[in-house]
Amino acid sequence: MTLVLGIVGHPLDHSVSVPMHMSAIFTLGIDYVYLSFDILPENLPHAIGQFKKENIKGFNVTIPYKETIMPYLDDIDERASRIGAVNTIDNENGRLKGYNTDGTGYLTSLREQTGFDPRGKRVLMIGAGGAAHAVAYALLEAGARHITIANRTREHAEVLCRHLGVYFPSASLQSTGMDTLDSEGRTQTDLVVNTTSIGMKGAGDIAMDFTGLDRHTVVSDIVYNPLETQFLKRALRAGLAIHDGAGMLVHQGAESFRLWTGIRPPVDVMRQAVLRALQEHH
Ligand SMILES: NC(=O)c1ccc[n+]([C@@H]2O[C@H](COP(=O)([O-])OP(=O)(O)OC[C@H]3O[C@@H](n4cnc5c(N)ncnc54)[C@H](OP(=O)(O)O)[C@@H]3O)[C@@H](O)[C@H]2O)c1
Repeated sequence: MTLVLGIVGHPLDHSVSVPMHMSAIFTLGIDYVYLSFDILPENLPHAIGQFKKENIKGFNVTIPYKETIMPYLDDIDERASRIGAVNTIDNENGRLKGYNTDGTGYLTSLREQTGFDPRGKRVLMIGAGGAAHAVAYALLEAGARHITIANRTREHAEVLCRHLGVYFPSASLQSTGMDTLDSEGRTQTDLVVNTTSIGMKGAGDIAMDFTGLDRHTVVSDIVYNPLETQFLKRALRAGLAIHDGAGMLVHQGAESFRLWTGIRPPVDVMRQAVLRALQEHH
């Protein structure tokens, strides 16, 4: 019997996850299908009930459900519960268990594309939303020494710092608004990462000047549509190493796939499918 996987979110037009996972399924020749489930917020509880009833094997969760879906799950992996968000649900013998593969996906991709090792490093992270929780957690887990979190709503950055401080008491964590990015960047920064949706679909840019940054600083953006955001284009022009969001998408997806199927999927095939889908639809 064909096992069903998928992605749950709203809105979900042209999800890149569908071709990405289907490319792995086709290459491996396994009896799975990966579908898109665009679900309105008021229908989420009912949909989860149906997923259990129909024995859906697993699904990814994206905007806006990464946190709100948590109370409906039977179990949550310890790491996901510490991060405070899930992006992967696995149906384990009728029980839905939540995981978070965003943070490890980010780190694997960052290391792969730039060779960056977070141990002992200073990070300037822009944004304090769901993805920021996972990225900051992964960087601290990998030994980052200091993170400044800059966010439009400063209170959200403060809350995230307090939350992370519980699990990483020896790390140095600082919150700020978006207006101090230039001065923050000049304070010995090894990695600048944008985790906000600024730059998505080509809209907008982060108001940060790169001229004050040290030459070794890596500039990273988790937005993958477009692959080269204005933020990354300016960093390249300033002669800095860059890291784009496609690798995070591929590696978080590969880890979800492994959780559901027990098989390590072909990441290069998935990456090609992502790049093709981005060219075709966006
Ligand atoms: N590459 C990947 O695999 C991957 C994985 C996950 C997410 N993402 C991308 O990451 C981005 C954020 O996702 P998320 O789940 O963290 O979303 P989220 O929880 O809604 O958080 C959004 C963040 O962006 C900020 N923001 C939004 N619009 C802004 C604006 N106009 N000006 C300044 N700040 C703004 C928010 O600030 P406030 O707190 O002030 O609202 C918040 O910090 C999305 O573009 C998503 O596609 C990529």
